[in-house]
Amino acid sequence: MKRQVEKAVRRFQMFTHSDKILLPVSGGKDSIALWDILLKLHFKVHALHVQLGISEYSEKSADITKRFSEEKNAKLTIVNINEEYGFNIPLAVEKTKLPACSICGTTKRYVYNKFAQKENMDVIVTGHNMDDLAAQLRHSSSTWDLEGMLATYPVRPGKQGLIKRAKPLVYLTEKETLTYVITQKLPVFLEECPFSQGAWSIVEKQELNRIENKKPGFKYQYLTQFYKKAYPAIYEFEEKKKIKNDIKLKSCKICGAPTVKDYCWFCRTRAKILDIKLETN
Ligand code: AMP
Ligand code: FES
Ligand code: ZN
Repeated sequence: MKRQVEKAVRRFQMFTHSDKILLPVSGGKDSIALWDILLKLHFKVHALHVQLGISEYSEKSADITKRFSEEKNAKLTIVNINEEYGFNIPLAVEKTKLPACSICGTTKRYVYNKFAQKENMDVIVTGHNMDDLAAQLRHSSSTWDLEGMLATYPVRPGKQGLIKRAKPLVYLTEKETLTYVITQKLPVFLEECPFSQGAWSIVEKQELNRIENKKPGFKYQYLTQFYKKAYPAIYEFEEKKKIKNDIKLKSCKICGAPTVKDYCWFCRTRAKILDIKLETN
């Protein structure tokens, strides 16, 4: 496991021992395994747990991260979105009618980035594994969502207002991270989020596992061949499109985050949830 993480870190130039690493941890098997491995490899890691207010599920997830941090004497910050921004995920879903996973994912990414900027971190490292990335690639390519396909690449460079991001578990499957947390006897929370039922990721993962059973090594080939053969061309195509369409990023009028509109997606969504009227000119 450690060797696979080291290989990914080196191969994609994710970070070095002098970098300050922000590791968002959910309390699930992947981020807990990654936390343990990065500590064992002596990287400078600061963990961040985002409490989403999804009833008992969020309480238990936060408790696990606290337990790990105490047992390993590892740095952890917990951000409660209700205390910080005045809403939780169930309220956001009710008010916006958006799918929970989409609103939750964007909110978490916003919180990671804000924290990383405030603390001068060099890179944000998440626990997405090979199954997560292959499922996302299948899902995005079914509608030729090119940006979604690019987002499966294990390292995304930092740009104006956005911190560099990396996914060092790219070479490890869900089964492997599960085996790791069990054999290492790490505290871990194995329940699924109550909003995850019927999520596309579950369907895509089942389909990929069906193929993998017939063709061992399929998931690895599917992802790595995409990175090698298609990613560079799609990346270039999307960059050229941005220049041609003259898409310039501005700063959000409320929080300063990069956006093409006056307000960033997070501030617009938060205003909708809390019935705040935003000034437009
Ligand atoms: P998921 O989207 O739930 O599969 O999670 C992917 C990765 O995002 C995890 O491995 C963590 O690194 C991070 N993550 C997910 N949920 C949280 C959370 N509530 N707080 C902090 N990080 C999280
Ligand atoms: Fe985000 Fe379930 S953890 S919707
Ligand atoms: Zn904003």
